[in-house]
Amino acid sequence: MKRFMDHDELARDSRFKRNGSQNQVLGSMPSDVKGIVRLFEAVAPKIKKRVAGTVLEEVYDEVGPGFQFLTLSGGTQSKEDRSPLQLRMQLHGIFVGELQALEAAGRTLWDFPEGDWELKMNMARQCWDEARHVQIYEKLIHHVGGEVGEFAETTFLFAASCNEDAVLRLAGVNRCLEGLACDVFRSLIDYGQRVGDDIIAQAVDYVLADELTHVRFGSEWVKKLTKDDPDRAKRARDFQRETDRSFSFGGERKLARAERVEAGFSESELDEIESLTSDGPSRDILIQAGELLRDRHQARNRGENVPEI
Ligand SMILES: [Fe+2]
Ligand SMILES: [Fe+2]
Repeated sequence: MKRFMDHDELARDSRFKRNGSQNQVLGSMPSDVKGIVRLFEAVAPKIKKRVAGTVLEEVYDEVGPGFQFLTLSGGTQSKEDRSPLQLRMQLHGIFVGELQALEAAGRTLWDFPEGDWELKMNMARQCWDEARHVQIYEKLIHHVGGEVGEFAETTFLFAASCNEDAVLRLAGVNRCLEGLACDVFRSLIDYGQRVGDDIIAQAVDYVLADELTHVRFGSEWVKKLTKDDPDRAKRARDFQRETDRSFSFGGERKLARAERVEAGFSESELDEIESLTSDGPSRDILIQAGELLRDRHQARNRGENVPEI
């Protein structure tokens, strides 16, 4: 079996639609409204292609390439309320994330045959957990009236696990992305409790307990494997920071501090992650950009001449 597989080689059945480039766009987001509008109008054909055949096609046709800023209001995790469409999108996004987390842990086990036996056992344990999470989120998608494959899949999680250095995978996937999952799951549990949806609140609570273990795997193994190698330790820190930064758009990231501390993050690390969030455009800017993109898109549809911005 092949080692070091690329993210676009992931196998999926015909229900799935793939998009691997979205995160690169979001990771290099300009911080002003006009810049964002220019960027999204430039990649509009790509976005249109990505949503073709999914439930988002109708949303795109109505409000244009910045629809995500208007439907998600610049990020779901700290938003108090969710529309039915937002909730379905979020659960679907988590579902494909769990699928890729399963594939990533399996790959890390397979790609490093000389690796530590304990590390392999941890990755195998993680595969088992992630497989269960995939099933849980598939059921939650059905619980809210959604379908697997109704939204396009982005492969950013698996892409972070294509690194040739196992330590960077553990830093990027287990510490950064699974740490991010802890924040999102905490907010989803709170949401379930607030709206009286015990199925969501309880199911996600079970998943969160597992994710803490996975973040802890990352924390412990990065420390262990870089103990006598300050250069490798620095590369791991830089990679984690870079990955964290590319998810800090929206400006209102709320960290699940208690859970993250339990999983091996120090308070100063958490302060740093929180401060990264202020680099990206604020939620207000994103919404303004979404509205301008919508107005320009609708004017074009009416056959009006829309000037360059
Ligand atoms: Fe998971
Ligand atoms: Fe996980």
